[in-house]
Amino acid sequence: MSETKSIGTIMITEEQIREKAKEIGEKITKEYGDEDIVLVGILRGAIMWMTDLMRYIDNPNLTIDFMACSSYGAATKTSGVVKINKDLDSDIEGKHVIIVEDIVDSGITLTYLMHYLENRMPKSVKICSLLNKPSGRKVDLEPDYYAFEVGNQFIIGYGLDYAQKYRQLPYISYLVQEEKEETPEE
Ligand code: IMP
Ligand code: MG
Repeated sequence: MSETKSIGTIMITEEQIREKAKEIGEKITKEYGDEDIVLVGILRGAIMWMTDLMRYIDNPNLTIDFMACSSYGAATKTSGVVKINKDLDSDIEGKHVIIVEDIVDSGITLTYLMHYLENRMPKSVKICSLLNKPSGRKVDLEPDYYAFEVGNQFIIGYGLDYAQKYRQLPYISYLVQEEKEETPEE
């Protein structure tokens, strides 16, 4: 048997994502006023969502930074182990941190990251995720802001990858795995 993978139908369009980015960005603008905010984007999945979101946050004291961590490898199931591959460049002490993520699945990565960042004495730490996959949850964690809830499919596109591919799709879709009977050679 061999497996072929393909892109499913479009679940969420670029326009729908932009609308949500505007809605959440305006909400953050109201909630934080002119306080110092550091948007912490989690590489690489959060990049498209982060660039959408940040343009709708009207705050003269907003800065951005990035972290990279891994817990997945090339598989579609979490390993439960979180490794920091790139840490912040800026100091977050006394500032409001908003972690910008692509998807909250098991919640393991973000639970770890929240504790990790809370040790540096920020004023607050919140989570803003593009997607929320509650069916995958293994720990008690909810994103403070999220744009869309998804089912238990493996999501690709708009930053989200399968084995580092499909991140560039300008919409959200899912991975289709088809098992094919190999035709015997004659
Ligand atoms: P969690 O720790 O299980 O909540 O998820 C950690 C990371 O796994 C996310 O930031 C994603 O990069 C990745 N991930 C989880 N679910 C999916 C999915 O459906 N598609 C692509 N990546 C996913
Ligand atoms: Mg990610």
